Amino acid sequence: AGGTAESLRTPIVAVLGHVDHGKTTLLDKIRGSAVTDGEAGAITQHIGATAVPLETVSELAGSLVDPDDFDLPGLLFIDTPGHHSFSTLRSRGGALADIAILVVDVNDGFQPQTIEALDILRRTETPFVVAANKIDTVPGWNPQSDVPIQESYDAQSDRARATLDENLYELIGELSDHDFSADMYWRVQNFANNVGVVPTSAETGEGVPDVLTVLMGLSQRYLKDAMAIDVDGPGAGTVLEVKDQKGFGTAIDVVLYDGTVRSDDTIVVGASGDPIVTDVRALLQPRPLAEIRTESRFEQVDAVSAAAGLKIAAPELDSAMAGAPVRVVRDQPREEVVAAVEEELAAIGVTTQEEGVVVKADTLGSLEAVADALEEAEIPIVRAEVGAVAPRDVTVASTADEEKHETVLAFSVDVLDNAADLAEESGVRIFESDVIYRLVEEYDEFVTERER
Ligand code: GTP
Ligand code: MG
Repeated sequence: AGGTAESLRTPIVAVLGHVDHGKTTLLDKIRGSAVTDGEAGAITQHIGATAVPLETVSELAGSLVDPDDFDLPGLLFIDTPGHHSFSTLRSRGGALADIAILVVDVNDGFQPQTIEALDILRRTETPFVVAANKIDTVPGWNPQSDVPIQESYDAQSDRARATLDENLYELIGELSDHDFSADMYWRVQNFANNVGVVPTSAETGEGVPDVLTVLMGLSQRYLKDAMAIDVDGPGAGTVLEVKDQKGFGTAIDVVLYDGTVRSDDTIVVGASGDPIVTDVRALLQPRPLAEIRTESRFEQVDAVSAAAGLKIAAPELDSAMAGAPVRVVRDQPREEVVAAVEEELAAIGVTTQEEGVVVKADTLGSLEAVADALEEAEIPIVRAEVGAVAPRDVTVASTADEEKHETVLAFSVDVLDNAADLAEESGVRIFESDVIYRLVEEYDEFVTERER
C-alpha cells in the first residue's frame, strides 16, 4: 500500500455518562435530529455512530471555530447507552474512542456510571471533556438558545449564576476526588494536564458551541499524529453489534477506525468460536448526520474509509461478537489476518480456572472489565462469554464443586427464559446488573451471607 494515500481521519468521539444525563439529547442538538423522541422510553437501547462533517461542527460552534484552523474532516460521535459499559470498546489493544465527552447532569452530580466511565477513561488514557449538562434547570435560569456559554452567563441573574457555580465547583471537586485535575474549560491552559468542564444545556444548546470547540481543539492538538492513516490500506474496525438486517441476513454494525473496506473484500471477524472468514455481501451506510441505529434506509456503497460507522452484511456472521475485531484481507495472506485477529482476541481474553463462577457480558470489552473486577476481588471464573445467559451456562454453574460458585454473573445481558427456569430447578443463582462493581458487591454480599 505504501504511504502515498496518507491522510487525516475523523477522530472517534465517545459520548459517555450516567443514564438520563443527556448524552443522546446532546448528540441530537449537534446533528439537529430528534433521535431521543423516537426511542423506546427515551432510553438508548443500542450503540450508534454519527458522522458530523467539519462544516457542521464549525457552523454550530459559530465564532468559536474557524474551519481554516482545522484540517481534520469532522468528528464521528458514538452514542452509548448509559446502562452499558460501552466505553470498554477497544481497537488493537487501545480504546476505540480517540476522545470522549463525559456528560454529567449538573444537578445530579456523579453517579455510578459516571464513575465507571471515568475509570475506563483513565485506564485507556482517553482525553475527554466534561459537559456539565442541564444548566437550564438551575432555578431562575434565563435560557439562551444555542449561544456560547460566556454569552449565556452574562444574561443570568447573580443568584442563578451563583447556584450554577456552586454545582460546577462540586463537580470539579468530585473529579479531583477521582484524581482528575479539572477546571472550567476557559481557565484550562494545558488540556493535556487538566480536564476542561463546559457548562451545557443539550435542551437549549447553550454551551454546545464550546463543547465542539474544545473537542476540535483537543483533536487538532493531541490527536493529529494518531489520525494520520493510510486510507487505502486494509480496513480495521470493531464490532458494535450483531443483528438481522432486512433483506441482507445477519449483519454487523462496525466502527471502522483504519483503512478502507470494499464491497468485494474478504473479511475476518472475531467470533465466539474460531474467527469467521467471509466475503462481504453488502456495505450499508447511513447518510452523514444520520444515526446508524435509527436510520431505516441505508445507502448501499462500494467502499467505506475510516473513520466511519457502517453495516457489513455477509454470510456466516451469526457467531460474531460485539467488541471483537474486524479485519479486511488484502496484501496479506488470510492466515496472517486470522492469526492477528486470534491474537487480539487472546489479548482481551479472560483467565479461567477449573473452579469458579460463570460470567456473561454484552461485549468483549465489558467481559474483560468484569473479569478484572472479579480478579481484584479474588473471585475465580470457570467460564466467561459474550451473550445472553443460556441453559448451558446454568448447567456449567450447577456442576461447581463449591456451592458459592453455583452462580452466573450477568452484565448487561438478558437471561433466556429456559435458562431462568433451569436455574430455578437446579438452585443456581443468577446475579444481574448494569454496573460492574454492583455485580461484584452483590455477589460478595451473597457469599458473606452464606458463610455466616
Ligand atoms: P440513556 O441513553 O438512557 O443513558 O440517557 P441519555 O444520557 O442519552 O439521556 P437523554 O438524552 O435521553 O436525556 C434524558 C432526559 O433528560 C430527556 O427527557 C431529555 O429531554 C432530558 N434532557 C437532556 N438534556 C437536557 C438539558 O440540558 N436540559 C433539560 N432540561 N433536559 C435535558
Ligand atoms: Mg441515550
